[in-house]
Amino acid sequence: MSERTEEETVSYEIVDRVAWVKFNRPEKRNCMSPKLNRQMLRVIEKLEFDDNVGVLVLTGEGTAWSAGMDLKEYFRETEALGLQGTRHAQREAYAWWKRLRWYQKPTIAMVNGWCFGGGYGPLFACDLAYASEDAQFGLSEINWGILPGGGATKVAQVLMPFRKAMYHAMLGENLTGREAEEAGLVNEALPADKLKARVGEVANKLLEKNPWALKATKDAMRRVGEMTYENAEDYLIRAQEALNFFDNEARKEGMRQFLDDKTYKPGLGAYDLSKQKK
Ligand code: COA
Repeated sequence: MSERTEEETVSYEIVDRVAWVKFNRPEKRNCMSPKLNRQMLRVIEKLEFDDNVGVLVLTGEGTAWSAGMDLKEYFRETEALGLQGTRHAQREAYAWWKRLRWYQKPTIAMVNGWCFGGGYGPLFACDLAYASEDAQFGLSEINWGILPGGGATKVAQVLMPFRKAMYHAMLGENLTGREAEEAGLVNEALPADKLKARVGEVANKLLEKNPWALKATKDAMRRVGEMTYENAEDYLIRAQEALNFFDNEARKEGMRQFLDDKTYKPGLGAYDLSKQKK
């Protein structure tokens, strides 16, 4: 096919408050070019505060989730422009992964196929991750003579047990979706034909939770990893107090429905959001 325009490198649709965003360069196995990186930032920025969206799912068109960075357009062609070209391309890629790591709404990676190298950036940026059992995950950088950059080494080190991460990075052998689940890269691996239904189910469960509490929870989970116990304890107090500033009724309503109305049990599910005072 003729070359895609920048706009065509990402597609999305919103169905019942879930935004299904796709890497959309299937003929290039959805590898990330500067064009795709710019367009992805535009798309996720547009969806972040769209009231019709409660959860964002990131998936890929065709046989790949993402074959990592585009060796031609992201590496070779930007390197030819000198250091400025390289740094510029890096900033464009890292910008949308960072935006996604601290996204206002819950995010789910739905890994439908190949997931390589730079793809670990957005994989980690998503709060939750589900994979097809036959997806393939790889830090292939060693196979073409570089180290896993763009955060990929950090992702493996954070998500995987040390020995598995080291082997994964040094040998450049792929893991199946099932093995990726065992190694901690994804929450769950499922047969390909069950993947979308499972992700939809999780997305719907997230839509039932208080959105402010979800944002505070996911940020806290990322932040406390770098803190001492004392700092984390203190941060969590401050974070809850900040949460009260945005939504001071949530916990009162949650307590009321449990203690007074006895209409639900927090141990078994979420309180009815629709009854909460705005
Ligand atoms: N960068 C640039 N081009 C890529 C690419 C990448 N990361 N991944 C795939 N492509 C291109 C191929 O060059 C090919 O282009 P062409 O049709 O113009 O020849 C096209 O996408 C299809 O790829 P192909 O290799 O034929 O598909 P496949 O299904 O047989 O294999 C992969 C899929 C993902 C195993 C293989 O493409 C691959 O190894 N890609 C590189 C993965 C990688 O190392 N990524 C890490 C980058 S940090």
